[in-house]
Amino acid sequence: MSVELLAEHRRRWSAIDRLVDTPVIPEAPGNGRTLKHSDGYAVARRLDRRPDEYVALWSSLREYRCDARIRNPEAIADLLSEWIGGLPEPDDDDTELTFNWPGRDVAVIPLLIDYGFRPKATVAIRRTSPPVATPPSDGIVIRELAAEHADAAVDLWREVIDWDNRFLRHPRRPDAVKHLRAEVERFTAKPGTAWVAEVGGAVVGLLVQSVGADSEWIQPLVEPAPVGYLNCLVTTAGHRGGGVGAALVDRAHRTLADSAVPYNTLHYNALNPLSGPFWNRAGYRPLWTNWSRPWRASTTR
Ligand SMILES: CC(C)(COP(=O)(O)OP(=O)(O)OC[C@H]1O[C@@H](n2cnc3c(N)ncnc32)[C@H](O)[C@@H]1OP(=O)(O)O)[C@@H](O)C(=O)NCCC(=O)NCCS
Repeated sequence: MSVELLAEHRRRWSAIDRLVDTPVIPEAPGNGRTLKHSDGYAVARRLDRRPDEYVALWSSLREYRCDARIRNPEAIADLLSEWIGGLPEPDDDDTELTFNWPGRDVAVIPLLIDYGFRPKATVAIRRTSPPVATPPSDGIVIRELAAEHADAAVDLWREVIDWDNRFLRHPRRPDAVKHLRAEVERFTAKPGTAWVAEVGGAVVGLLVQSVGADSEWIQPLVEPAPVGYLNCLVTTAGHRGGGVGAALVDRAHRTLADSAVPYNTLHYNALNPLSGPFWNRAGYRPLWTNWSRPWRASTTR
């Protein structure tokens, strides 16, 4: 694709949101195709996963993904039409179409809605410093995640996966607990990356934070560097609304600021009524929107 078109695309996105970067789109593999347009292009790919993979906890087993670069948002309608028109008929209930786009580029939103997409997840961002004033946290003790918290941490992480799946609607995956236990053990071995919150001696909250090599995968989406990524925040039902989440986030932000990580990022589910307001109050704002359309046997074009 022309260098000029890509340069125009980058200029357009950075004028809309200076924190957005333009990731390189991988070449279309054997199952993919490049769609051409006078005002842009798109690469359409199919990604396949096994039900026992970690990523399948929040993804469909088959994902048809389209990445576009444009000089004029009107091109998106033609590219979506060509992409979707060329897809095979849906034949199961574990397939989705996905399209990632900067949240502030509102010109494409009506086009995506017209093609049946809905926001699935938001990538949000905030400066790690200065800290946000947090609600009172009397009686809440924040501790570094340690081996003695492993069972409670796995249960808490499982709770947020189950909570999110109310909105994601993926089938329940095998091996979820096995993957979460491995993640808990991995972060336990990395001081300064994960914390639990205790109330009355009971573990009621968990926060897991990636930095360095663990958060490099999200860097292509974000202009400033280096950037952290918050993997998990959960307060167990029954203890929510008491300042546990805010106290955990405060600890993570202070640690990031001390480590000279200027920005932090995270995903939250667009339909989750608890996370959007919480993250907004904690200083995060949308950067990218992950748009999704179920591609099911019952779906019509
Ligand atoms: C999102 C979640 C972690 C928040 O945890 P929590 O312990 O309830 O959070 P807090 O008690 O600290 O904050 C809740 C309230 O304080 C507010 N708050 C949060 N940070 C604040 C801040 N820095 N200053 C002032 N108020 C703040 C929130 O907006 C919220 O207000 P509300 O009482 O009107 O609802 C919790 O609801 C949860 O576990 N939900 C299910 C899993 C989930 O959605 N996880 C997030 C996935 S991205």
